[in-house]
Amino acid sequence: MSGLLKFPVISIDGPTASGKGTVAHRVAKQLGFHYLDSGALYRLTALSALRNGVALSDEQAIAALGRVLPCRFDKGHVYLAGDDVTDEVRQEEIGVAASKIAVLPLVRKALVELQVSFRQAPGLVADGRDMGTVIFPDALQKVFLTASVEARANRRYKQLIEKGFPANMEDLVKDLEERDARDMARTAAPLKPAPGAFILDTSHLTANEAVHQILSLYAQALRNQSAI
Ligand code: CDP
Repeated sequence: MSGLLKFPVISIDGPTASGKGTVAHRVAKQLGFHYLDSGALYRLTALSALRNGVALSDEQAIAALGRVLPCRFDKGHVYLAGDDVTDEVRQEEIGVAASKIAVLPLVRKALVELQVSFRQAPGLVADGRDMGTVIFPDALQKVFLTASVEARANRRYKQLIEKGFPANMEDLVKDLEERDARDMARTAAPLKPAPGAFILDTSHLTANEAVHQILSLYAQALRNQSAI
């Protein structure tokens, strides 16, 4: 199928805790599109490695786990091998483990097919680090969502406290900075805006304002496409 005939994709990439999850989810809901939380796939692969006693540096073994990841997404819940791991997978230590295995090229390759399979009618909102650069380079609208470290640490703090997890601001800022550095410095699919991506700084925007802006960009992209 040619790129143009494929179902439309809106890619939303950006650093940790930039609000991508909330915003991407709401955009998908408004449009009636599918939603891919690609970070969850890295988190689930990391969790699977931890459960199977696989070292986070064992690239071959983790890629093998990723290739047959027994995951399921259903009504806001995430399952790994039939267990509901919705809350467990969001824990900060799993996020850190995910960012460690995400630097491994074979692990990234192992997860490509699964990510691409989310592209179904009538369209997809894909949230991650390399959605617009690597996985869906033909996305109709590419967005790079960002925010200051302080704004992101505040959001992550609230998220963790709401879920009843312990959180400490100082540790969170350090963790975010380390994770940003690891995501941007890696050679395999480093975090960076895709060519043509709209850069949206959400430090001073509410989630709904960001959603509104992305929906307007998408509507414009559709108009531009039909004018071709
Ligand atoms: O919630 P947060 O933004 O912290 O993380 P996430 O989106 O759940 O992703 C967890 C980790 O997976 C990130 O820190 C990235 O290192 C990695 N990741 C990636 O490398 N590529 C993606 N497309 C998505 C996530």
